[in-house]
Amino acid sequence: MMQQFVDRLSPESRRHRFFSESAPSTDLVAALCDSSKPRIQLTLIVTRIWEGKLRIIAAGSYWAKNEHTAEVAMAVDDEFHGKGLGTLLLERLAFIAIRQGFANLWAVTHVNNVAMREVFRESGFSAHEAYEGEDMEVQLSLVPTEITVTRAELRERLATTASLRPFFYPESVAVIGASRDPKSIGFRLLEALITAQFQGAVYPVNPKATEIAGREVYPSMNAVPRPVDLAIIAVPAEKVLPVVEDCASVGVRALVVITSGFAEVGPEGNVLQAQLVEKVRQHGMRMIGPNCFGILNTDPSVRLNATFTSLFPPSGRVAMSSQSGAIGIATLGAAHRFHVGISSFVSVGNKADVSTNDLLQYWEEDPVTGVILLYMESFGNPRRFARIARRVSARKPIIAVKAGRSRSGRRAAGSHTAALAASDVAVDALFLQTGVIRAETLEEMLAIAAGFANQSFPSGRRVGIITNAGGPAILCTDACEASGLIVPELSVQTKTRLGTFLPSTAARTNPIDLIASASPQQYADAIATMLAAEEIDALIIIYVSVTVVDTAGIAEGIKRGIEKGRATASTSKPVFLVWMAEGDSDRIFTVAGETIPVYVLPETPAVVLGKMASSAEWQQRAVGVVPDFDDLNLSTARTLCTTALSQRGNGWMTTEETRSLLRAVKLPVQPGGVALTADEAVAVAEKIGWPVAVKLASHQIVHKTEFGGVHLNLTNERSVRHAFASITSELEKRNTLAAMEGVLVQPMLTGGVEVMVGVTHDPLFGPLIAFGLGGIHVEILGDVQFRITPLTEDDAIEMIRGIKGYSLLRGYRNQQPADTQALEEVLLRISRLVEEIPEIYELDLNPIFALSPGEGCRIVDARIGVSRPTAGLANR
Ligand code: COA
Repeated sequence: MMQQFVDRLSPESRRHRFFSESAPSTDLVAALCDSSKPRIQLTLIVTRIWEGKLRIIAAGSYWAKNEHTAEVAMAVDDEFHGKGLGTLLLERLAFIAIRQGFANLWAVTHVNNVAMREVFRESGFSAHEAYEGEDMEVQLSLVPTEITVTRAELRERLATTASLRPFFYPESVAVIGASRDPKSIGFRLLEALITAQFQGAVYPVNPKATEIAGREVYPSMNAVPRPVDLAIIAVPAEKVLPVVEDCASVGVRALVVITSGFAEVGPEGNVLQAQLVEKVRQHGMRMIGPNCFGILNTDPSVRLNATFTSLFPPSGRVAMSSQSGAIGIATLGAAHRFHVGISSFVSVGNKADVSTNDLLQYWEEDPVTGVILLYMESFGNPRRFARIARRVSARKPIIAVKAGRSRSGRRAAGSHTAALAASDVAVDALFLQTGVIRAETLEEMLAIAAGFANQSFPSGRRVGIITNAGGPAILCTDACEASGLIVPELSVQTKTRLGTFLPSTAARTNPIDLIASASPQQYADAIATMLAAEEIDALIIIYVSVTVVDTAGIAEGIKRGIEKGRATASTSKPVFLVWMAEGDSDRIFTVAGETIPVYVLPETPAVVLGKMASSAEWQQRAVGVVPDFDDLNLSTARTLCTTALSQRGNGWMTTEETRSLLRAVKLPVQPGGVALTADEAVAVAEKIGWPVAVKLASHQIVHKTEFGGVHLNLTNERSVRHAFASITSELEKRNTLAAMEGVLVQPMLTGGVEVMVGVTHDPLFGPLIAFGLGGIHVEILGDVQFRITPLTEDDAIEMIRGIKGYSLLRGYRNQQPADTQALEEVLLRISRLVEEIPEIYELDLNPIFALSPGEGCRIVDARIGVSRPTAGLANR
């Protein structure tokens, strides 16, 4: 195939790639295909089915020029020039080259090879150019910079957005498997498209029918008279692949595969799904599903309902992706009730091609969408999600329900979607670090969406509450406080204004209780007053029909108040309503085109407002910085790991190796050393100064204290010798002397707070860092904060502040505060270490003694486990 690719290149392309117009030797072509030693040479190819055959349409290679630099060259089939393939190849080659330890790429190109020069420029890598006659030599530094990262992200976003557009803005849609049976999915798909009044052309395809639902039916895609942008496929599983082939042959760009029977049903389905994805990709198409419920776009210029329910939600700013079809149907049905207008909806099904990550990027660019809802059961690639969600949530709130919190819930998720369920701490950490708002239930997700979609963010956390009954207001106040909001005292000015129209029995405190007999006008005046009050940032209005009153009149009063408040105080403070009137739960409040979210319980708006305030703060925050340390000796650290692995295989490193590794990355290891004999132990103790601690050094024995392996506060030679002898005899007694690597002799530390830093490896999320109080606290209280790597400086600060025992670190009673900056640095250095060296799968620094501010911290005990990294993460 490579030979055919090379043969097809035009003489000019060949000259640019091989510096000669004649065909390269077959040996050279064969050599290009060998990527078995990526440290020496590697080739990446791009394939595509074209003119009925699978062909290579682009290829790029690098080969080592010296230890740090690899030479790079590439060629793109002349038919596919100008599509960004060269830039993409260079980006991917650079990524692999970095992983293989190269620092630069080097290339020589003809000065008139404009396309190649453009590829180098587009990459964003800092380039050094030198000219020699007709040739130009370019050296690209592979150190990622803000420019390279931003350019790569932009390229990915633009390409993804463009590839997904045919799903949302098709001019013509085919329903393949449109059935004659009105109860079938195929029929309902067609019916939904027609009922929603899709603005483009609809082509039902079914070889057995000529007319369905009054529409002409076509026997195959070839018979359809016009080009089709989007095909909805609802034929039985075994027929999907040939149908996809037919779609490709007539130039369809987007497929929604409703059919089930793929990865969700087990190994056989997995194989079928892999074949389906391969076919879709080889033809350069995109696919949503399989095993999905369809997609929907409410844009009036499109009105696309490519699902099998005729429910067409009100249009609005909220986009939603759902990993469950049933949840999707339920949510669309409930959207009306919650006054949530939908922009577009996607049931992602098995996410075999289009992923939630792709959709996030589409909605990031979609001008109609302002809020994104995700119902998730699994993550394809959480690290990519982290990168994308962090960027998107800085502009558009993302609200997610992640199912599978409970153990049995996770099992259900696994069998339902055939996807790996992620552990819940990792999910919490991921959402926290990316600004994603986690909703506990679907109901809560919709309630939050109603707030985000219809009201502005509050500019602070101070809430005013107006009510006509005490109980609900108390519950609302409690919920506000639990959500991190403040229900402040009112200013004298506000109280005076309230006094002008409230009866003397009504409370002028916050919450303002208008009492049961509140009139429409009192509501109106109180609302207008509170909207103008400078001491509040948001308003919750509660109405309970405690007596027989004119509820419609109260509703009018509330509307009047909001309208007046908005007009006179010209404020966009968010306003929420709790409407607790029997038989009147569907009341819609629109005031001059503005929808006021209505809830039936007094706690709900407090939860919603809390999330909105957090989101506002998140969006105002500067983008987190992952700091760089230039004093890390990573090559020593890496060598220590690989040596341990090659000597002993997967497992714990020895005490000596562990200490050397931590020192290589400049972590504050408690001084001292490993001694093999009692004499050596005494010598170390004399060198480091008394008193000392003597501990068993062993990578095999984990709980050393239980083994009598820890002797503290030793003040003289005799006690050190005794400690050594007692450790040895204890091990002998248990027949485990071979596990002893000597003893670790360390100076005793006094004062300071004991904390711990740990790392575990999640198969999907990668390294997870933990921080908590050290010693027994972490195990008994479970007071630990988790984050995924890489950590930003803010992540490290928040982890430390986030533990319940933080007050101990801030100084408590007689205890000195701790050097939290030093702890932050430990976290950040560990984050860098585990990101750089994937062989480190587990790490425990426990305890670390945090000393007084300015005095740093000391790692007293440490364990590091290494294992050969498994296959990389899926790139979705
Ligand atoms: N091209 C076009 N139409 C074709 C076809 C082809 N190659 N092969 C078959 N058809 C037609 C059939 O003639 C039939 O039409 P008819 O009812 O008028 O005879 C129609 O497609 C459906 O085929 P049928 O064999 O009756 O399948 P079905 O309706 O029993 O099942 C699915 C098809 C897709 C609904 C079913 O396989 C399935 O996957 N169901 C589950 C879907 C699901 O739950 N998805 C996830 C939601 S969250």
